[in-house]
Amino acid sequence: MINAAWIALGFLAIVLLARGLKASQRDAKMPPGPPGLPLLGNLHELPWSKSYLKMLEWSRKYGDIYSLKLGSTNVIVLSSADVVTELFDKRGAIYSNRPDSYIANELLCPNETHLLLMSYGPAWRHLRKTFMSVLNISTVQTLRTLQGIEASQTMKDLCDTPERFSQHIRRYATGVILSSVFGTRAESFDDPNVKEIYRVQDQFSEILEPGNTPPVDAFPWLQYLPSGLASWKQRAAEVYKGQHDLYHGLLNGTKRRIANAGYVNCFMDRLLSDEEKAKHNLDDEHLAFLGGVMMEAGSDSTSSTLLSFILAMVKYPHVLKKLQAEIDAVCGDERSPTFEDMPSLPYVQACVLETMRWRPAVPAAFPHVLTQDDWYRGYFLPKGSMVIANVTAIHQNPNDYEDPSQYMPERYYKNEHGLKPGRVADPARRSVYTFGAGRRVCPGMHLGENSLRINMARLAWGFDFLPPLDSVTGKEAPREQIPVDVKSAYTDGVSSGPKDYKCRIVPRSRKHVEIMRKDLELAGPEIDQYRKQ
Ligand code: HEM
Repeated sequence: MINAAWIALGFLAIVLLARGLKASQRDAKMPPGPPGLPLLGNLHELPWSKSYLKMLEWSRKYGDIYSLKLGSTNVIVLSSADVVTELFDKRGAIYSNRPDSYIANELLCPNETHLLLMSYGPAWRHLRKTFMSVLNISTVQTLRTLQGIEASQTMKDLCDTPERFSQHIRRYATGVILSSVFGTRAESFDDPNVKEIYRVQDQFSEILEPGNTPPVDAFPWLQYLPSGLASWKQRAAEVYKGQHDLYHGLLNGTKRRIANAGYVNCFMDRLLSDEEKAKHNLDDEHLAFLGGVMMEAGSDSTSSTLLSFILAMVKYPHVLKKLQAEIDAVCGDERSPTFEDMPSLPYVQACVLETMRWRPAVPAAFPHVLTQDDWYRGYFLPKGSMVIANVTAIHQNPNDYEDPSQYMPERYYKNEHGLKPGRVADPARRSVYTFGAGRRVCPGMHLGENSLRINMARLAWGFDFLPPLDSVTGKEAPREQIPVDVKSAYTDGVSSGPKDYKCRIVPRSRKHVEIMRKDLELAGPEIDQYRKQ
């Protein structure tokens, strides 16, 4: 009897092993890629952090479309704009799912509330439509006054305490979403909402980075480990609780304020109005996460990009000089730049695009999943494959860009796609892939880009950005030694920005300071409506 049981178990083990071995082998018709190990595939080669750099290295060997095996999961990596435009943008109907991730969908987002993580389907479509109703290009234009005010606050903060620049920038990025979504302002980085958003967001970004938790989706039996043996389960539960408490708190605060003091111009007030409520039919959990997801998705991404811009201004003073010359020619030293000036400031726009190309805030975007078998360039792409648009590799592709590793806004000054001479763009090509592509493309891109425009223009108009002084010699650090390398000078996580760095931010003149302070004073009455409780 016992012998028979052992034989049956042994047989089962052999069958499972054989299946596992087969599943970890790459189909010969798939795009090529690095050879892997039995069962693991390429899992052991993909680093736990900054995996997009390893994927960039592989693209140099295997081309702009190659495949990996992560256990039994097929992964297709795209590394040029041509491939992403063709697959994500033109064949979006079948390239728009997200990975069915146990950690993301069961532990972090159990109720189909998180647009970023949700599977492609009717529930996602319904929620995405609600997002687009407030984030579309024309509605977003009505928020430019608010964005201008938040930028004025940032410039004033930089005049007061320039050494706290990274906090002021982070306050802006979160503050602008808090006021535009929930109608409440955060006037300092020490505001409890801002602190909590960044705490929750850091944990969320970390837990989602491939390699940062055990490969539960490649080896589903890991799901059944008891919590005592799987600390990542506890971590995920804490992230969910942190988000839930914060977002419901903000939603309840908005409802209280509407009841006590009335409506203001912000997304949530619009969605809570009787007319809109009937249209979108979302419960409190969905509304709370709708606002929360906007803050999560829009905060770090915007602040990282602005901090990369400041870093670039310290490192490349010739770019700053050119920017200042352009802005001075339009505004002089009588007033700071506004949104209305933007059509006359093409170099500002070139800096916006070049900063997003040079240091994309989400360096490998978010993975998509293919929902049907497909063929491309003679390769078989199986249904269920995870498809990654490696934005870092796309933006560093030497076939498209001259000196891709260099920060050169001029490339966008000459050409809306920043391409090298002679390179003809597909008309569907995007200027940058920093916002992703296809049907899952960032719905907040217009709001985000407006934030970058107004802040970059005001920063360059009002300040000089200088290297720090050596604490011993008192001399300015040489610009060549200012670290900008992604490997060592940038943070880990799905979203990445410069690690804390030092620089001196100095107003260009006393007159500039006066104007920057005045800008905020003049916004007083407008600001008051966002102080209502
Ligand atoms: C510079 C700023 C920003 C960057 C670099 C950025 C980047 C991205 C990227 C790469 C994606 C994934 C796209 C894909 O899967 O192909 C995304 C999705 C998303 N972004 Fe942004 N984003 C920014 C600002 C914002 C803002 C301001 C908001 C909202 C107020 C926002 C809301 C979202 C949402 C909700 C999604 C999920 C869309 C979906 O899966 O259907 N983002 N963003």
